Amino acid sequence: MKKAVLPDRLAVIVEQIDQGAVVADIGTDHGLVPVEAVVRREAGHAVAADVNAGPLQAASDYIAACGLTGKIDTRLGSGLTVLTENDLIDTVVIAGMGGTLISDILEQGREHLRSVQKLILQPNVSADRIRRWLLDNGWKLIREQILKEERHVYEILTAVPGEAEAPYHQQEPLEKQLLFGPYLLGERNNAFKDKWMREKDNWQQILNQLANAVPTEQTTAKKRKLNQYIAWAEEVIT
Ligand SMILES: C[S@@+](CC[C@H](N)C(=O)[O-])C[C@H]1O[C@@H](n2cnc3c(N)ncnc32)[C@H](O)[C@@H]1O
Repeated sequence: MKKAVLPDRLAVIVEQIDQGAVVADIGTDHGLVPVEAVVRREAGHAVAADVNAGPLQAASDYIAACGLTGKIDTRLGSGLTVLTENDLIDTVVIAGMGGTLISDILEQGREHLRSVQKLILQPNVSADRIRRWLLDNGWKLIREQILKEERHVYEILTAVPGEAEAPYHQQEPLEKQLLFGPYLLGERNNAFKDKWMREKDNWQQILNQLANAVPTEQTTAKKRKLNQYIAWAEEVIT
């Protein structure tokens, strides 16, 4: 079987894997990441895990077709619980899920991260939830990347154990930096502007709908938050 073409999003993730790493791809689905980790990054070993049997079977078939069954273990189960100490995983990839689910997986699997030296995380939404988790749990963001592929904008966060506060500046509100990303805020490329222009329009629509809502403590707080986010978005896209 011919090796599948790697989408740009996954190519960027694979580039973040160090040469010779021992990788776990949680929520692997098609198995593209562990295969590329072994082929391109010469990963010593990899674990491809998924909570659903169908995607795991697809990964297993692809791994076998690439002749890599001996190098990549497939495991059925939720999150990091499939990993054992003997795996000596040093790099964990979790991609293509919501930021809340990714941070839940990290939180619920904290004890499985002892040997891990790098997290490569690609949330489809709510990257701020992941930044918050990293900050609260002693993981230092070392890189943020953002790219547009077809109509979607993807953020890729890379973190290592260390000084979690280091990327954040005193001069800016923490909530703003968690939302937009401390490094991405400095760079503000076209994909970043595109994403936040769209988010701003969404927030504006929600705000318009709330205009007719009965004023309660909750709706007032929500309107205040949306107004703040819209003001921040206007600032970062100009
Ligand atoms: C949209 S796919 C993303 C696949 C691949 N990681 C990527 O980025 O292209 C999400 C995958 O995560 C799996 N998944 C969802 N929750 C999970 C969990 N708690 N633990 C492991 N896998 C999970 C799903 O079964 C699905 O195969």
